[in-house]
Amino acid sequence: SFNLRNRNFLKLLDFTGKEIEHLIALAQDLKHAKYAGTEQQKLKGKNIALIFEKTSTRTRCAFEVAAHDQGAHVTYIGGGSQMGHKESTKDTARVLGRFYDGIEYRGFGQDVVEILGEHAGVPVWNGLTDEWHPTQIIADWMTMLEHGNGKRLNQMKLAYMGDAKNNMGNSLMVGAAKVGMEIRLVGPKAYWPDPTLVEKCNELCKISGGKIVITDNVQEGVDNVDFIYGDVWVSMGEPEELWETRINDLAPYQVNMSVITATQNPAVKYMHCLPAFHNDETRVGKKIEEKFNMKGLEVTEDVFESSYTICFDEAENRMHSIKAIMVATLGD
Ligand code: CP
Ligand code: NVA
Repeated sequence: SFNLRNRNFLKLLDFTGKEIEHLIALAQDLKHAKYAGTEQQKLKGKNIALIFEKTSTRTRCAFEVAAHDQGAHVTYIGGGSQMGHKESTKDTARVLGRFYDGIEYRGFGQDVVEILGEHAGVPVWNGLTDEWHPTQIIADWMTMLEHGNGKRLNQMKLAYMGDAKNNMGNSLMVGAAKVGMEIRLVGPKAYWPDPTLVEKCNELCKISGGKIVITDNVQEGVDNVDFIYGDVWVSMGEPEELWETRINDLAPYQVNMSVITATQNPAVKYMHCLPAFHNDETRVGKKIEEKFNMKGLEVTEDVFESSYTICFDEAENRMHSIKAIMVATLGD
C-alpha cells in the first residue's frame, strides 16, 4: 500500500506511476463518498495556507471547498505577503510552517515552490508554476478514466494541441510517461518541449510502456486518439504582446470540427484545463476578436459547446483530486 504522508506535491517527476494511480483512486473514493453523503473528515483541525501570486478560479476554490469538506481551515494569501519582497522565500517558508499544517503555492518560478517545500517542514502543494501544473493531471487522468469506455490509462491515446512547452505540455507529457499512456504533442516546432525533458520522459516510457510523439502535423497527431486536449495560447505571466505572434503561430492547431473529424474516432472527447477562449464573451476575448477577427482561439465555440466536451467534469474533478492530494499527504 502507499504512504504519501508528509510528502510535498511539487511536480509529477517526484512520483511513481503507481503513486499517481493511487491518488486518482483516492480521488474517486472521495468523490463517491461525497455524493453518497458518507465522507469522513481526515483533516479536522488542520490549518492550510493558500498562496496565490497568479489569478485562479478552479484551483483556489478546489482547495477551499476540499479543505472545508475535510474539516480544515484555510487562509487565502494573495500576492500581498512579504514573501519575495521584504522577506526571502526561505524565511516565509519557516514562518508559515510554524502556523500551518500544509501550504499551497501558485506563482511563477518552480524554484519558489521548491524552496517552500524544502524549508516549510509541512507538505507543500504546487497549484501551478510557469513550469508545472501537477494537480491538474490527477483530475485529468481521473476524468479520462470516467470517459474512457473501460480503457485503462495505459491503453489511452491523448493529443495535446498548441503550446507544448508550457506548464500543461510539460505536465501532461510527464504524467503520460509515468502511467504508460500514449501522448502526442501537436504544435509548431518552436513550441516543442525541452529536449532534455523529452529524453527523460522517453526513459520513463521504457518502464511504463508509454509513448511520446511530437509532431507539427495535425492529421498525424490526432489520428485515432481517444482524447484531444487544449490550453490557452498565452499563459498567465506571459506578456500580452505575445498574442499576435502566438495567434499566427498556433492558429493551424486550433481544435475545430474538422480536427474532431480527423481523429476518425466518433467517441473522441475534448478536454481543456480551463479557462478557455472559445468565444468573444470575455474581456480578453473581445480584444482578440476586434484585433484579429477571430472568435475562439484554441477551440471553436461549436466544439466547446458540443457533446464531445468533458471540460466541466474535468473542472469538477479538480476539487476531488486536490482533496485526495491533501488527504494523502496530510490526513490522519
Ligand atoms: N485549471 C486551472 O488551474 O484553473 P484556474 O486557473 O482557474 O485555477
Ligand atoms: N498554461 C495555463 C494553464 C492555466 C490553468 C497558464 O499557465 O496560464
